[in-house]
This record gives sequence, C-alpha cells and structure tokens, in this order.
Amino acid sequence: MSVSWTLPFDEKILPEDRSKSTTAQDYAKVHRKSVEDSREFWAGVAREMEWFRPWDRVLDDSEPPFYKWFVGGELNASYLCLDRHVKTWRKNKVALIWEGEPTADGRPTEVRTLTYYDLYREVNRLAHLLKHRYNIKRGDTVGVYLPMVPELPAVMLAAARIGAVFTVVFSGFSSDALAERLNDAGAKILFTADGVWRKGKVLDLKPIADRALEKAPAVRNVVVVRRVGGRTAMREGRDEFYDSALKEVPVNAFVEPERTKSEDPLYVLYTSGTTGKPKGQVHDIGGYLTLLHATMNWVFDVRDTDVYWCSADIGWVTGHSYIVFGPLMEGVTGVMYEGALDCPAPDRWASIIERYGVSVFYTSPTAIRGWMRNGEEWVRKHDTSTVRLMHSVGEPINPEAFRWLFKAVGREKVPFGSTWWMTETGGILISHLPGLHMVPMKPGTNGPPLPGIDADVLDEAGKAQEAGERGYLVIRKPWPGMPLTIYKDPKRYVDVYYGRFPGVFYAGDYAVKDEDGYFWILGRADEVIKVAGHRLGTYELESALIQHPAVAESAVVGVPDEVKGEVPVAFVILRQGYTPSEGLKKELNDITREKVGAVAAIREVLFVSKLPKTRSAKIMRRVVQAVAAGRSPGDVTTLEDEASVEEVRSAHEALQHEVRGGKSS
Ligand code: WTA
Repeated sequence: MSVSWTLPFDEKILPEDRSKSTTAQDYAKVHRKSVEDSREFWAGVAREMEWFRPWDRVLDDSEPPFYKWFVGGELNASYLCLDRHVKTWRKNKVALIWEGEPTADGRPTEVRTLTYYDLYREVNRLAHLLKHRYNIKRGDTVGVYLPMVPELPAVMLAAARIGAVFTVVFSGFSSDALAERLNDAGAKILFTADGVWRKGKVLDLKPIADRALEKAPAVRNVVVVRRVGGRTAMREGRDEFYDSALKEVPVNAFVEPERTKSEDPLYVLYTSGTTGKPKGQVHDIGGYLTLLHATMNWVFDVRDTDVYWCSADIGWVTGHSYIVFGPLMEGVTGVMYEGALDCPAPDRWASIIERYGVSVFYTSPTAIRGWMRNGEEWVRKHDTSTVRLMHSVGEPINPEAFRWLFKAVGREKVPFGSTWWMTETGGILISHLPGLHMVPMKPGTNGPPLPGIDADVLDEAGKAQEAGERGYLVIRKPWPGMPLTIYKDPKRYVDVYYGRFPGVFYAGDYAVKDEDGYFWILGRADEVIKVAGHRLGTYELESALIQHPAVAESAVVGVPDEVKGEVPVAFVILRQGYTPSEGLKKELNDITREKVGAVAAIREVLFVSKLPKTRSAKIMRRVVQAVAAGRSPGDVTTLEDEASVEEVRSAHEALQHEVRGGKSS
C-alpha cells in the first residue's frame, strides 16, 4: 500500500537551531545504536533526573511482559515537579496560567496565575489534608472527577506526594461510568466540583457525582471545589467544600514527600478496549517520569522562556502527561484553559495564544478542523507569531488540517508534527524531534520512533513488513513509561497487548513505515473509535444499547466526520413488539449518554431487521463498518445471509438521503 498523501511543499522544515538538523539516514544510525542497548540508553536519560536513591537494576525483565524499570530506585513525582524548582530561581516563576471560560467584552473574567511556590504551598496543604484529615495512606486510591480547574493538578500532585494512587475520570463521563471506575479502582475519597463552565453555560457536576456515589459505597469522603457558586446539596458527614477543608490546614504546612519506589503505581487511568469493561492502565513512577522528561525536551524542546500550551483535557492521558507531570517536571510555564476553544467566539484559542504569548502549542486534529471551518480571519484577529513549535495528537492528521494550521499559525516555517502514542505508552513514542535530532519533517507522518524505542510494522503472521506495506504497529522492546499491568486483571494485560504477537507489544493501530524509517499511523485496527480524539470502545456503546428493552442486537461502528474525525452510528435490531420511531431513537441516544456520557453521543440510530453475520453467528463488524462508511464490504463469502448487507446499505443510504434532503430544504 502506498502512503496516503504527498508533501504539500518541497522545502524541509528545519528548527531555528540548525545545529540539530540531521538527515534521516544519520538519525537511523543514532536510533539503531540507542535501541541495541536500550537499557543503557534509558538509564542515561533517567540519570538526568533527581532520585532519592539510585536504582539497582535498570530493567527487571524476570516476569515478562510485566516489566519494571529502575528497580530499587526511589523518587517522588511531586518533589520533582515542585520542591526541586522551589529550591532554585524558578521558585517565583509562573507554573500555571489558568483561564476560566466566561468572558466580558471579549476578555476572560478570571485568570489565575500560580507560581511554582504557590503550587508547592497548595499541594503541601492538600497532602496534609489527605493524610491527617482523611487518613489516606500510601497505596490508597484517590478518585478525581474534576473539570479543568487548577485544583485538578494540585490534587494529582498531592496524592503523588504521599504515595497514594490517583484515578482521574474525565468530567464528560456519566455517573455510571464514574461509579464503575471508582469501584474498580477502590477509591476511598473523591474530589469533584459543584460544576463547570462549558460553552457559556454552567454544567452541574456534583449531582452526577452524587448518583455515582450511590453505587460506589467505598468512597468515604467527598471534597467539592466551588467553581460555580457552591449551591449544591452536600451530604452531612461525607461532603465538604475544598476551601473550607483547607482553611483548617496551616498555610506553611509541609509534608515530606514519600520515598516512593520507581515501580510503585502513580495512577490508574481507564481506557476503552475492544471488549469488556474499561481497562485500568497502571503507570509506574520512575519509568513514566523518565519518558516525560525525555519527550518534553526532544519533542517539545522546552526552554525557560517558553509559554507552553497543551489544549487537551487532564481527564485523558494527554493532560496527565503533557499538562501536569511533563511540563511541571521541566519547570515550564504552562497554560490551562477551562472551557470550549470556540467560546464565546471562534477566535478564543487564538486569543489565548496572543494573551500569554504561547510559544509551544500542542493540540488535536479535531480542534484544528473545527477552527478551519470558521476561516482564517478569526486567527488573523490575533498575533500568534510567538508560536515557534507545534504538535498534534490523538488521531491521524489529514492534509487539509495540517496545511491550514501550518499556514495560519505556523507561518509556513514552524515545525509541526503529529506525535503518536496511547494511554498505554505513557508518553510520546513516535514523533519528529525538534529538540534533539531534527530530521526533515514530513507532514502527515508521525516521524521516526524516538531513540530507545524499537517500533516496527508486522504482517498478520508477525513478519516485519517492507517499507510502504501496511501492517500492525508493535513495540518490540520494553520502554520506560509502559504500563505495569491492567489494574486487577494481569491476564487481560498479557492477552490484549502480548497475545497477538508473542513477546512484542501490540498497539492495535495500522501503520506503514516508509523508506526513510518514518511511521504513518493510519488508525485503529480494532473496534475502538476516536470521536473528536476521545477513545471509545464501540462495545461500550453496544452494551449500553442492549440495556434498553427494545433492543435485541446492535452493531456500533465509526463513520467519518468532517470535524470529529469519526462519529458512532448504531445499527439496531428491535425485539418483537417494538417498532422504529423517532421517540425510540431518542431513548436509545439517551441511554448511551446515561451509561457512558455525553462524549458517546450516537450520531444516528438506524433500524434494521438483520445484521451481517458469520455462520457461527458473529456480527461481521468489518462489513457493517465498510457499508456505513460508503465503501465496498470486500470479501463476504463467509456471510450467513448476504441480504443483510443490502439491508445495512439501504438503511444507510436512506439516512444519507435524509441528511442531504434536510440540508437543501
Ligand atoms: C490514535 C492518546 C495517528 C491511535 C494519546 C492510538 C494517533 C490512539 C495519533 C490512542 C497520531 C494517537 N496519529 N493516530 N499522532 N495519536 N493516535 O489512548 O489510534 O486516547 O492507538 O491516547 O489514538 O488513544 P489514547
């Protein structure tokens, strides 16, 4: 298969600092060497960080695939993000510039700037509270269901400080989804907020948390951040406002950072997979922070003069790694924004860049496509010339989106990459590296694997593909930042990631490697879809739908969408006695929102009387997917009943017709 699109320009993008530029061939040599001795290579990186105690072994590989990095080493994530800077001139440097969503006269009405010392104080007081008021001990789990407010990173750092494990649940998830995660993780306490500003409106969060708590009895205490006025029902003896609780803690409280072990868990973050419930990815401390330290420098090339903005939400892994731990560990000034990037007008994001002089910008293809729709004039209202480096993440970037941002903000010269990684990998593994060896950038590619990362593309049988051939992306050798396991389900960890090709990590993505060794990640090879960059298992949506009494069977697939990349469409077979109706469609949509959350809104429910199945009665999702995306279904010889394909097709065509008809009328 050939790679899908060509370069939009002949000139190579090179970094300001030309001394770092190199050829793809020279990089390949450096890379090969780093991979051959990847342990020593990563040990060199880890030595750049401050450890309380050095490790005895770089990698414990005695129980593959449960690898442990820097065993015997002791360090603390909160110490590395705060105490270390507070001892230097960075003490009074701005760590976080937070901007709330509401505006007046086009200007934000709330901006909070926290210096490293401010954040250090807050985190120490919170750690004190966790330890002494709520009796949270090392190894206990702290649940977090917070929107994008500064208290969110503070809670994560405070948990890390005392060696507690935190689990953040994205604030767009429903009460059922929250309860499931809190229960699985065994959370003893929950941090949430009364509400959040989103698209100009207040969204109440506490009532959602309350419904989840009815199903999560192990949560003893609930701490509520007052974000939208604090008018919310509080349960006596369980709930307390964050500010009131903190009032009782001395301003100068100091909590000694725990000497956590490198292989201790830092957090559990749930992510969607092909089947079953969401998987709790457990990340360690030493390996994870090593990868973040490396990537903040190689990929983002951060310097003390930078203002760095990652526009993701901390509820997803991108925010964990590249809003909280990565930038703070490097002593960077970061921007954190509460709300929608186009609120109150499509230039909000560009105004943020201008207001703070953002120089390093990390965003997503979905965000870019959204801005593109509104036109470049919205960007030109603002001075975005401070930006010197950009990257995107979450989905493959399409040529139009690349070209648009490259021109609108990148002035056709700023390095702009598409970093590949996943919740499981902990940090970026495949990327252009403007801060290290700047190989010529090829727009649309993800770039070469990082030094020390042994990535490859395999065919069905596990044989390495030639350049230009599509196959499955794998990582051969262990890397720092990899998961310790799936929480409480080590067998699943082995099956999902190491079951497909024994001994190598299977990412679940299709990829092509080109003749220069650059990777092009093409999208998921499984039943995971990326809706606006958010990772959802179609199985989760099907499990929600089946809980409605009218549903006998369903197949949810992703179909292309101009802005969101993909959106879910459900094909539903009704039980006897039920007939299709608009009311029923709405009920089915509501049930997915209730079980999974607003992120899972189904674009369209289509009623059919049969679905393509194999003779062993397995739904052939590949066929449904192809037809729904308007493609040929390919080989259907194993189908039980070919008429089912026609049925899916005509349901889909009727929808297309409706959509077109609706538009023209
Ligand atoms: C996809 C997000 C193409 C991929 C950090 C992966 C990408 C999944 C890219 C993980 C990219 C992420 N180009 N595809 N630059 N970045 N993906 O766990 O399919 O939310 O497997 O982590 O996103 O999604 P997750």
